[in-house]
Amino acid sequence: MARLDPHSYADDAQPRTKSFAWQATVDFPARVLRAEVTLYFAEPAAGGPLDLDTRELDIEAVQDASGGPLEFALHPADPVLGSRLEIAVPKCAEAIRIRYRTSPEASALQWLTPEQTLAKRHPYLFSQCQAIHARSVLPCQDTPSIRQTFTASLDVPASLRAVMAAAPLSREVHGERAVERFEMPQPIPPYLFALAVGDLASKDLSPRSRVWAEPAQLDAAAWEFERVEEHLRAAEALFGPYDWERFDLLVMPPSFPYGGMENPRLTFLTPSLLAGDRSLVNVVAHELAHSWTGNLVTNATAEHFWLNEGFTVFAERRILEALEGPEMAALHAAIGHQKLRQAFELHAEAPELTRLRTQLAGIDPDVAFSVVPYEKGYFFLKALEAVAGREAFDALLTRWLGAHRFGAVTTDDFLELVERESPGLLAKVDAPAWVDAPGLPAAFREPDSARLRAVLQQIGRAPATDATKDWSVTEWVLFLEAMPRPVSSAVCEELDATYALTAAKNADLLVSWLVLACESGFAGVLPRVEEVLGQTGRMKYLKPLYRALATHAETKPLAERLFAQHRAQYHPIAQQAVQHVLA
Ligand code: BES
Ligand code: ZN
Repeated sequence: MARLDPHSYADDAQPRTKSFAWQATVDFPARVLRAEVTLYFAEPAAGGPLDLDTRELDIEAVQDASGGPLEFALHPADPVLGSRLEIAVPKCAEAIRIRYRTSPEASALQWLTPEQTLAKRHPYLFSQCQAIHARSVLPCQDTPSIRQTFTASLDVPASLRAVMAAAPLSREVHGERAVERFEMPQPIPPYLFALAVGDLASKDLSPRSRVWAEPAQLDAAAWEFERVEEHLRAAEALFGPYDWERFDLLVMPPSFPYGGMENPRLTFLTPSLLAGDRSLVNVVAHELAHSWTGNLVTNATAEHFWLNEGFTVFAERRILEALEGPEMAALHAAIGHQKLRQAFELHAEAPELTRLRTQLAGIDPDVAFSVVPYEKGYFFLKALEAVAGREAFDALLTRWLGAHRFGAVTTDDFLELVERESPGLLAKVDAPAWVDAPGLPAAFREPDSARLRAVLQQIGRAPATDATKDWSVTEWVLFLEAMPRPVSSAVCEELDATYALTAAKNADLLVSWLVLACESGFAGVLPRVEEVLGQTGRMKYLKPLYRALATHAETKPLAERLFAQHRAQYHPIAQQAVQHVLA
């Protein structure tokens, strides 16, 4: 017997879940799901223990398929893994059933009061299971190496809609309650299990795509994401047919802690993407790209997370290149390069987390999370592409996707495939330095392009308006991220006076500016910083803003006051992240 994954109790000698049937009643006043799950095994059990992952679940009963009670033990919680639920499975059993309740503090769930929604009239519930939070919603083998299909039924207040990352089957209203049924016919890793319940409406964007949002935001969302079908076509031209039938979008409440989450058939998106100018749709391209890299070909454990995210950033920038041209893709790569350098500085004390292949036994994947697997992974793939040539490298990627469809992959799987398909390529780029050494290899080449050079020429000062008249938001973000810190108050003053950065609508641009200004001790932006920290729960914005405030003695108390004030509005994962930044 052996564990399959450092973040799961799943054991390779035990029965494997092939599918599950889940039923839950959503109890808003109590903030719990009252639920029952039947796990169906890939093969009849040999008889013996089955270890499942759980976190803060209240287990009421465990039964065999015909309702007979089974013995079980819920072991004390490990701080990272949660509690092992050990079940005595009889020989030949094909399924087991568990009745349980979630905790109001379930790490995957955020229960929002009406005041925390746009219209302030109805409560809202959503899940975020990646990396290891599915176990707080249902007892399961919570490792991406065990794919599972499922059916689900949600009993919700009839005034609300339930949506899931699955195919909707039916909605039946019984008085005050409604039951909504779903089915997921493609096997998924548990971290892609996802649901939301709220006052939701939808609008079609194309025959295979619609956007869901609170009614008041629906038109803005439909406008922002109107071009989704173009993204789908560009992605299919690059990576082959889209395998998940629908690509729907759900605009989340502001406390959603990520920019996007690639839940299959229903990508979750932060409302901070609604800039009014479609300037943040690269996040849609990113989540769409996960339909191939991540959802079809999935990291076997969080230690190989770069296989999900590095490949997806690579794919995202290829989609962007197809839609907006190579200069835009190069600008995004240059921003990625700046963020990667910043991450190396932040990880100076823990350089082992800047390897692509990590060792995470005993380490919470949320704590290990950074841009390193994204951007270093991207630059590794670009280095391979540069030596192999685009055509050969595209062929290699096609092989990779084809060889591991609906599979779970490790770093060695990728290295072996590259060596087989293109002998000598790994040695030419010094792959071991990319994969297993911290930082960037000596042979790393910075992204380069004409527009990018024009931006970098302006670094260190407030550029004249004719130098910037053709700049897109992306150029501005690069400019701000590349600025050496601190910048003098005079330059901050002039930048803001000339370009009204504090009033920017694009949240990426706004936050890049606010962070630069805070790190430079420019107090003029503090009222806007306060507003932003009260309006968004996206960690990409919260972490650098709180960090910038906390680095100066004058603004550290402000950071603490604002965190105390807004903490309860943030998602549990974001609370933990900000706490970490302030500690
Ligand atoms: N899968 C991630 C979000 C995630 C990662 C959730 C790890 C939980 C644990 C998603 O695809 C993502 O990377 N989102 C980015 C988008 C960006 C890179 C374009 C984000 O949230 O900012
Ligand atoms: Zn991603």
